[in-house]
Amino acid sequence: MASSLPVVIAACSPDSTTTAKSPQNTPPAPAATTPPAPAATTPRADGFVLAGTVAELDKEGKIQNKKLPVLVVRNPADSKTLYAVDPTCTHKGCPVEWEADEKLFDCPCHDSDFAPDGKVVKGPAAAPLKTYQVKIEGDSVLVKAG
Ligand code: FES
Repeated sequence: MASSLPVVIAACSPDSTTTAKSPQNTPPAPAATTPPAPAATTPRADGFVLAGTVAELDKEGKIQNKKLPVLVVRNPADSKTLYAVDPTCTHKGCPVEWEADEKLFDCPCHDSDFAPDGKVVKGPAAAPLKTYQVKIEGDSVLVKAG
C-alpha cells in the first residue's frame, strides 16, 4: 500500500505534466508593494517631529503620540501656548492621564499629580515629568523630543 501512494499522488497532480510541457511558464508577479508611510518619529532637520494636528488637539483636548512618546496639551492659563511632556510617571513609570477639568496630569497608579508644565503637584512622585519644546506650524503640532 505504501509503495503505491507516490504513484497515485503523481497521477493526480496536474502541475507535474503542465510544468514539463510548458517551459514558458513564468513565476507569479510579485505582489504590489505599498510605499511606507512617512515615519512620524523621523525628526526634521531642526529636530522637531510631527506629534499630531491642531484639529486633533482641539477635538480631543490633547495629543497623545505613543510612538514618541509625548502628551501635548494647551496651556490652561494661555491657550495659545502648548505643553508637551513625556507621559511616563517619574514615580514607577505608569502612563499619566491629562485631566482637563483639574488642569493636571494624573497618574492612576499611586495618584501623583503634575502641573501642565510637568512639575510635581502631589507625590509620591518626586521628580517632574520630562518636558519637550513644542510649537504649531500651520495645522501641525511639532515636538522636539530627545
Ligand atoms: S507610578 Fe505614578 S504615582 Fe506611582
